[in-house]
Amino acid sequence: MRTEPKQLRLAFGTDPLTQMSITWQTSEPVENPVVEYGETPSLGKRVPAERVSYPYETGIIYRALMGDLQSGQRYFYRVGCEGGGFSRAYSFRTPQSGLHDFIFTAFADHGTTRFSVQNSRNVAALNPTFHFIAGDLSYADGRQPVWDKYLEQLEVLAARIPVMVSFGNHENERIGEQRIGYIAAETRFAMPNKGQYYDFRISNACFVAFNSNERENEAQYEWLQRTLQRARSDRAIRWLIVFAHHPLYGSTRRRGNNEAMIRRFQPLFDRYRVDLVIHGHDHVYERMYPMRGGKAVVKSGNRYRQGAGVVYVTCGGGGVSLYDLMPEPTPWTARREKTYCYLKVRVGARDALRVEAYRVDNSLIEAFEVA
Ligand SMILES: [Fe+2]
Repeated sequence: MRTEPKQLRLAFGTDPLTQMSITWQTSEPVENPVVEYGETPSLGKRVPAERVSYPYETGIIYRALMGDLQSGQRYFYRVGCEGGGFSRAYSFRTPQSGLHDFIFTAFADHGTTRFSVQNSRNVAALNPTFHFIAGDLSYADGRQPVWDKYLEQLEVLAARIPVMVSFGNHENERIGEQRIGYIAAETRFAMPNKGQYYDFRISNACFVAFNSNERENEAQYEWLQRTLQRARSDRAIRWLIVFAHHPLYGSTRRRGNNEAMIRRFQPLFDRYRVDLVIHGHDHVYERMYPMRGGKAVVKSGNRYRQGAGVVYVTCGGGGVSLYDLMPEPTPWTARREKTYCYLKVRVGARDALRVEAYRVDNSLIEAFEVA
């Protein structure tokens, strides 16, 4: 049916504890599209959807905000309309309020391969509070129907778990000679600040996402500095976790360390004692020992003292393809492997930040803790 809701995807609203947005697409416009939701499968509440569009869209995109949610609560929902039909019913859970342990998952460089789909299934099975994709999402590269395939595949994850994203180089699209920029990703994902740079807080963690393509953008840089500073001086925040597509350090062939990224962002991450930075772009798994001033502060073990250094993780094995590693790792590399991968991060309220990296077959690559 051409009015059937497809590509369902949840995302946090401005307040992740009480607001969830739902975006979907139909082939033809419908009358009075809505989201129906409630704390039981009989739903009960209903909010109208608005149409969002961009010049190269391939269908009709609708978005609705469930803005009056209770934190720590399961909700059931469906989207659609009376005349055109509804989606099946799904459910999601809002984050708890206050200090509590929770997990989130992450990867980058996702794509539409069988590995991409398996990785989405893998993280969905962990029931994280949210999933983060650190750039290079669909690899549409101007071919807009690829976004539809990507978002249809992402539904196994995103209809139940809020998916937050930052933009990579492949989100900055061109069609033929014409640069269309981020407009497809901005419209298709309902991120704060159109996905360019934003932060959100859960329990005692502050998550900060920015667009590393726009490395030299002064407004973004000033926002990043202000946001890191504010989070680090807030006694309610213990963990400071950053997402950006391009890594600073790495030993992927034809890539290596990114001197421009290092020059621009290493001083900031050091100054505000960022705990964990998650990247993609290099299609491998590579993790550094805690670093300060461009050097590792320790070079052994897998349990580190909080504040000693910044731990950088590249998890670019989201599914699209893999790159070769250079023969030698960087002097600071703790672990690297050419493999499809995802991260499971447990954010401790009173104990450690525990990061587990897995291959796409769910075998463990490594685990480390900051405490
Ligand atoms: Fe990339």
